[in-house]
Amino acid sequence: MAIVLIRQDGKLDLWKKTFLDQYPDLPVYSFNEPHPRESISMAIVWKHPKGSLEGYPNLKCITSFGAGVDFILKDESRPAGIPITRVIDDALADDMAEYVLTAVFGHLKNMDQYAQDQFAAQWKPRPYGRIADHTVGIMGFGTLGSHVGRALSQLGFRVIGWSRHPKSQPGIVVYHGKSGEKEFLNRTSILICLLPLTAETKGILNTSTLIQLRPGAYLINVARGGHLAEDELIPLLDTGQLSGACLDVFNQEPLPSDHPFWAHPRIKITPHVASVSDPQSVVPQLVENYRRLEKGQALLNQIDPELGY
Ligand code: NAP
Ligand code: GLV
Repeated sequence: MAIVLIRQDGKLDLWKKTFLDQYPDLPVYSFNEPHPRESISMAIVWKHPKGSLEGYPNLKCITSFGAGVDFILKDESRPAGIPITRVIDDALADDMAEYVLTAVFGHLKNMDQYAQDQFAAQWKPRPYGRIADHTVGIMGFGTLGSHVGRALSQLGFRVIGWSRHPKSQPGIVVYHGKSGEKEFLNRTSILICLLPLTAETKGILNTSTLIQLRPGAYLINVARGGHLAEDELIPLLDTGQLSGACLDVFNQEPLPSDHPFWAHPRIKITPHVASVSDPQSVVPQLVENYRRLEKGQALLNQIDPELGY
């Protein structure tokens, strides 16, 4: 049995080195070096090239390097019926909370507008928001959403959540399903999307949902670009229905240089960096699953391919 690592973002060598630093005898290979294909039982992937999961006759598990698995499920050339697992990691959750807090406070205190004013040498005081003014709605109240919700709630924000199933969380009302969606949206003045990208959630951030938010609401999308109907965002900003948006993820990444989002004064863009799997922190759980695979034990963090998360 052996592991193959498949990713093309320049981090392959770092990941392989971290595996071998922590587990010197581990049979781990990069996909772009000669490797014994028959021995590979686990493929760990991030935005892998289409077709790269073919030709491993003994593959028993496909693992995402990150929390999301949408890019695995959309690869129709992957071998069918093989369990898929993902990352659940405290550091990833902390990083996400830090990013979201940064975005929320930047919005409250007009930091984007002041950055633009500075370049225009304009001294222009503006009214600022306070924690007490806002209800933060977290769409997708799972591992990351609930962690972010707790961090905001501890700072005094009113936090509400939305998930598929009912949940209880001290101090946070969690709505669920279609029946809970309207009230969730109507109460929300800062919307944070932390849903997985699935057939049900694709395009969920669209005009008909976003107009149900409090007038002048702020949108933070840290989930996947496919959640946002990108063509519908700018009209909502230009009419003031939304006061701004902080976007970390896009339909096409890197965001094309001629995309209208780049130039919009009320859109803040970051390059899919809200929370990034840290090899030091994540490698042990990936190896734990490899060991479980060797022993025929149940895998950690397995997703349901029918649900898509
Ligand atoms: P998770 O633990 O699986 O949580 C997903 C949440 O979404 C759950 O609460 C689930 O409800 C809810 N949900 C799923 N489908 C729904 C639907 N149709 N209607 C209502 N709620 C629905 O996932 P996670 O670990 O928190 O990660 C969430 C996503 O964040 C990932 O899939 C990934 O795309 C994204 N992400 C982005 C970055 C970044 O840097 N930008 C980093 C990490 C992750 P139930 O709890 O009821 O099942
Ligand atoms: C990042 O986007 C992840 O899914 O971990």
